[in-house]
Amino acid sequence: MIRIGIDYYPEQWDRALWEEDAVRMRALGAHVIRLGEFAWSRMEPKDGVFDFTWLDDAIEIISRQGMQVILGTPTNCAPLWLYQEHQDTIQWGRDGRPTDLGIRGHRCMVSPTFRQYAGRIVEEMSRRYAGRPEVFAWQLDNELENNHCTCPACRSAFRDWLREKYGTLDSLNRAWGNMVWSGEVSDWEQIQPLLAPECLPRWHNPACLLDYERFGADCTADYVRFQSGIIRRYDSQAVITTNACIPANMPDFHKEFAELDVAAYDDYPPVRLPEDAEELYSNAFVLDFVRGFKQKNFWILEQFAGHMGCWPPISPTPEPEMLSGYALQAVAHGADLLSFFRWRTACTGAEMFCHGILDHSNVPNRRLRELEELFRRLAQLPGLGDTTLRSPAAILYSADQEFALKNQTQSDGFAYWTQLRLFHEACVGLGVNVDVIREDAPLDNYQVVLVPTHLVTDPDLASRLEDFARRGGTVVITNRSGVQDKNGNCILGQELPTVFRDLCGCHVTEYDPIGPVKQTVNLTKGGTYQITSWCDLLELDTAQAWARYQGRFYSGVPAVAKNRFGEGTAYYVGTVGEKAMYRTLLIEAFRERGVPLLETLPQGVEVTTRSGEGGTYQFFFNNTVHGQNFQLQGERVHLRPLEMKIRTEKEVWV
Ligand code: GLA
Ligand code: ZN
Repeated sequence: MIRIGIDYYPEQWDRALWEEDAVRMRALGAHVIRLGEFAWSRMEPKDGVFDFTWLDDAIEIISRQGMQVILGTPTNCAPLWLYQEHQDTIQWGRDGRPTDLGIRGHRCMVSPTFRQYAGRIVEEMSRRYAGRPEVFAWQLDNELENNHCTCPACRSAFRDWLREKYGTLDSLNRAWGNMVWSGEVSDWEQIQPLLAPECLPRWHNPACLLDYERFGADCTADYVRFQSGIIRRYDSQAVITTNACIPANMPDFHKEFAELDVAAYDDYPPVRLPEDAEELYSNAFVLDFVRGFKQKNFWILEQFAGHMGCWPPISPTPEPEMLSGYALQAVAHGADLLSFFRWRTACTGAEMFCHGILDHSNVPNRRLRELEELFRRLAQLPGLGDTTLRSPAAILYSADQEFALKNQTQSDGFAYWTQLRLFHEACVGLGVNVDVIREDAPLDNYQVVLVPTHLVTDPDLASRLEDFARRGGTVVITNRSGVQDKNGNCILGQELPTVFRDLCGCHVTEYDPIGPVKQTVNLTKGGTYQITSWCDLLELDTAQAWARYQGRFYSGVPAVAKNRFGEGTAYYVGTVGEKAMYRTLLIEAFRERGVPLLETLPQGVEVTTRSGEGGTYQFFFNNTVHGQNFQLQGERVHLRPLEMKIRTEKEVWV
């Protein structure tokens, strides 16, 4: 069964509404209600004075309706008395100063004083609620980012982290290459975390920045471990998660979720779909990425339910079928629980125009009716919860690339996420399930492994990929791979792609970061595609040219190479192509490995398959605002804008 949840903030509503809300949420089809996050000032109105009676009442009202709760720890928003009493709990900005206090997210997750208070409130909650049958699960804090706080505690934590990693300043200086610009450190105190944005990243050593991001990721993971550890002391069986988003400061999600039981995500797909067919707007990539955090099904703790708005202007209202289409898109990629943000649009506070299911009027509306219909449909598919995605293909992801490529843009417009998503979109457009997994995850279960831009090189990866190809797998690896060592310094004395050269059977003689300029390549087997951003000029060792540049001084030079390696194959893509180029390449790669494909899907239709004990379900999602028609094994299929159709193993549409 796919569980339905609703996000509810009882502290924001008059008590007279609670009962009625619970009855209505149950009638709509909810199984779980998420509450508690952000309500610290109501749980602890004064230092050490706790009041959970209101939460007890809310939980009781909810459970009386046969629903359970997902309890949020309120630590994202510390009460103002805490900041006032203990200024060392306040986060500092990149400008090296305490942040101006608004009312959200200003806590420093490293500060020992903050830990003491956060630990105490989590402990109070655990003592009261952990192990109770009303509690379905726990959510820690809210939408954690990589720690970029520059407060004194964080500065010294960074230095401690470096001491632990390098032992001596000598070895740190060597690892970072600090002889450049007289950057040699002679006292630990000289090491600064990120400071003013105008210093970034030009005047910083990229090797230092890479370690700084890794440190930030460890802080976030440690914070999660700290909170979950407290809850587990009271209930070792507790199901604990946190709601991820894709923030500007990305944490290392694999580390963050390592100690948690299930991955969870806040799903806010775009309300306005772009006209430009080359734009990568689909949320499908992120959903597969989230499934990869623990390589199993995941939850959505905030599923978008209305037009967005806070300080930015209010977004357009979601098109008909958008709410249900996107919710089902999450299910299609492995979500087992969907908790909708939020029951009713707030009447107060910053998010009063960030719409929930119900409007301020509190009367049933179009969105509610659409969700009602969706929940009815899901209730008729009880087997769905006992299925998952089995994928013949995997995209390798690593936080190191994320960090390094953000600090050192390789070419105007060149982005790690674009690299990942181009491959991903081609897979879902061919109906091929694809996992997004960490770079050191086992590869045995896959037939095709996609490695977009492996800049910071894990030395083991080359030999693991060689083994994989030797035994008959296909590897596709792209430009800017094998460039740097683990410290983020460039590898001396080997032509690119350095450690991947044998596997790819080619090397780069020269590269041309062309930025937004568009050029073309010709495929050896015929066909022309636009390329942009980057051109590796390849020389073939044992590989064959798959595509060659057309134009400029390197007309005719190989751009994409294909190499037989053992029983398998490796492709090296030395440029960034238009979407269709990846589709053509992957059709060839998948066909060679006998992976079944749906080649008749029009652009914008995404297909995934969930299977297992509960049956087999193939999801056809029209992620566009136009109707779509296509042939499917002799059958004519029509999809309305944003419609999701589901087909079972008996080829019945449900
Ligand atoms: C995030 C937060 C929510 C809310 C929504 C709506 O996802 O987790 O608390 O602020 O955004 O903007
Ligand atoms: Zn701090």
